[in-house]
Amino acid sequence: MPNTVIWWSYHRPMLSPAERRERLKEVYREASTCTKCALAQTRTTVVFGSGNADADLMFVGEAPGANEDKQGLPFVGQAGKLLEKLLGEIGLTRGDVFICNTLKCRPPGNRDPHPDEIASCEDYLRRQVELIQPKVICTLGNFATKLLRGDPAGITRVHGQPEARAFGAHSVRLYPIFHPAAALYTPSMLETLRADFARLPDLLALPVPTPAPAAPPPVEMEPVPEPEEDVPEPDAAFPQPVAAPQLGLF
Ligand code: URA
Repeated sequence: MPNTVIWWSYHRPMLSPAERRERLKEVYREASTCTKCALAQTRTTVVFGSGNADADLMFVGEAPGANEDKQGLPFVGQAGKLLEKLLGEIGLTRGDVFICNTLKCRPPGNRDPHPDEIASCEDYLRRQVELIQPKVICTLGNFATKLLRGDPAGITRVHGQPEARAFGAHSVRLYPIFHPAAALYTPSMLETLRADFARLPDLLALPVPTPAPAAPPPVEMEPVPEPEEDVPEPDAAFPQPVAAPQLGLF
């Protein structure tokens, strides 16, 4: 687990959805040639994220795996297929939501992201949240949950518990859930994930939380072993990513 956390402060510009989408494309173009950390030397493709640039619901995973690195799209492996299935069960498709990761490049061998990589990448996620302005951010699994909550509490403890949070000027409900890769081979975890998913429509129907609690200051986090969540996604190729509308992304 990294010893740094993402927390940020900024002023949200008042932009129309079309303007926000154009700005998101600019961030995408910038990220796609990023060389801020050493992952630029080992990645095949920057995996910026994909989906609806005006989504109410955003998913944030850990980092791209081998399939994502090849295809340039997030969650295109087995875990992504499960994510799509669970979305379908609540009447949504990938085109309704925005899916991305804390890191935009694959760490070699799917190792945990290093603190300097998180620090180099966090501005992309900050700008994604700022421009997409989701009502709910679902963190998938331990890594994204600890990072975005700024707290070492593990996913087993905090899953399914929405919290109002301020991301700079933007208020969201942060909603941690198990990582679909972890649920792939553990039926009980899958049922928990399904039950947490089932609450999403109600959360999305709530108004944006205001006023949101002030963001906590960055904290130093000690590594906390979370063996129950340490399930790497298999590298096996999986059927095609969603046909994304424009830019192949959003
Ligand atoms: N696991 C993640 O956390 N992100 C992906 O994009 C794929 C697998």
